[in-house]
Amino acid sequence: MLTKNMLDKLNEQIGYEFESSNLYLQMSAWCKAKGLEGSAGFLRKHAEEELSHMFKFFDYLEETGNLPVIPALAKPKADYENLRNVFEETLAHEKFITGKINGLAELALAEKNWATFQFLQWFTAEQHEEEALFNRVLDLVKMIGTDGRGLFLLDKEIGKLKADK
Ligand SMILES: [Fe+2]
Ligand SMILES: [Fe+2]
Repeated sequence: MLTKNMLDKLNEQIGYEFESSNLYLQMSAWCKAKGLEGSAGFLRKHAEEELSHMFKFFDYLEETGNLPVIPALAKPKADYENLRNVFEETLAHEKFITGKINGLAELALAEKNWATFQFLQWFTAEQHEEEALFNRVLDLVKMIGTDGRGLFLLDKEIGKLKADK
C-alpha cells in the first residue's frame, strides 16, 4: 500500500529516469556527430541502462497495484562546448538523481514503508556505482586532456569503460 505522496514521488522518478536516458542518448548523438565513437557508444549503453531503471519503477508501481503515470519530460540539452563539458554534466546529473533517490528513501523511512525502502536500496547502491563511474571518466578527462591527440586517446579509453560498472 503506497500513500498518495509516495505514489506521486515514484511516478516523478519514472520521469527522472526517462530524462536520464534521453539526456545520455542525446549526448551520445553529440559525441557521434563529433566523431567521438568511444564516448558515443558508452553514453548510448548508459542511456539503455537508465531505461532499465525507469522500468524497475514502472514495474514496482504495477506490482503494488498502482497505475504508473508517465509525467511530461524535459527536453534534453543537445549542444555542448566540449567532451569535458559533457562529462561534467553527466556527473552533475547523477548527483541530482542520487538526491532524488535519497529523498525517496527518506520518505519510505518516515512512512515506515519497509517494502519500498527495501526496493530503493538497489538504487542507493546503483547511484553510488554510477557516481564512481562518472568520477572515473572525469579523472580520465583530467589525466589525458582533450587537446589534439589527447582527445582521440581519451575517447578510446572512455569507449573501453563498461557503462554499467
Ligand atoms: Fe538511473
Ligand atoms: Fe544514472
